[in-house]
Amino acid sequence: MSLDQILAVLPSGSAEEALARQIDFDRLPAHVAVIMDGNGRWAAQRHLPRVEGHRAGIESVREVVEGSARLGIQVLTLYAFSVENWKRPATEVSTLMGLLKRYLRSELNTLLRNDIRFHVIGRQEELAGDVRRELADAEAKTAANAGMLFNIALNYGGRAEIVEAAKKLIAEGADAESLDEQRFSQFLYTAGQPDPDLLIRTSGEMRVSNFLLWQIAYAEIWVTDTLWPDFRKRHLLEAILAYQKRERRYGGIKHPAVAGR
Ligand code: FPP
Repeated sequence: MSLDQILAVLPSGSAEEALARQIDFDRLPAHVAVIMDGNGRWAAQRHLPRVEGHRAGIESVREVVEGSARLGIQVLTLYAFSVENWKRPATEVSTLMGLLKRYLRSELNTLLRNDIRFHVIGRQEELAGDVRRELADAEAKTAANAGMLFNIALNYGGRAEIVEAAKKLIAEGADAESLDEQRFSQFLYTAGQPDPDLLIRTSGEMRVSNFLLWQIAYAEIWVTDTLWPDFRKRHLLEAILAYQKRERRYGGIKHPAVAGR
């Protein structure tokens, strides 16, 4: 994927095209993680029920998945449903699950066409059977794809993930002597994946909300006031450009923003 790939889906002469031309494709973030926030506020601004914000947010999901794949991002992780989101009204939860199923059915061909591998992170055993079947089907059908890995975080909590990893380690009888950060990370849902270099959060909130707590240790955080349903490829490009202007230090001396460590 490359400049040509992304330009193919941007209107020529547009602001998006100008942004895309500024991207340094040798210094892309390997992993971009997104906290999609502000659907409720987007709906409230239009005097619509909250679920309409989620519905509108699907178009933003499409834009970001396609845009990231075309840019050549290796891993994209979207936070779709947290372990805390069960506290929302039952109708909102069931609408979110229904939207997810519809998204998977309608976008499967796009995922296949773009060589995208779909993967779920989170506690799937607590999801309804029909949702799990749909997720497993999308994972199986895209498993052989070699392009971008698209993680969807569902019934996900960062602390729960760390506790689960610790339990797996204990069950394996791991000894304290051989345990280090590298080994521990192999028990997380994201085993084998690069850590996020860039964490995007929409709707202006300055929180990490229990998202990828271990993995974002060195991530650059970019927050926009844009509400998730208004998020488009333009915002993704802005986030990547902001990332590329930062110096990454990892607690040491200056580094230009680079993928990996
Ligand atoms: C936060 O907005 C958003 C969510 C809890 C869910 C995000 C889900 C989608 C965009 C749709 C389904 C996803 C996929 C991948 C098909 P909020 O409701 O907390 O907004 P608020 O803070 O303004 O109330």
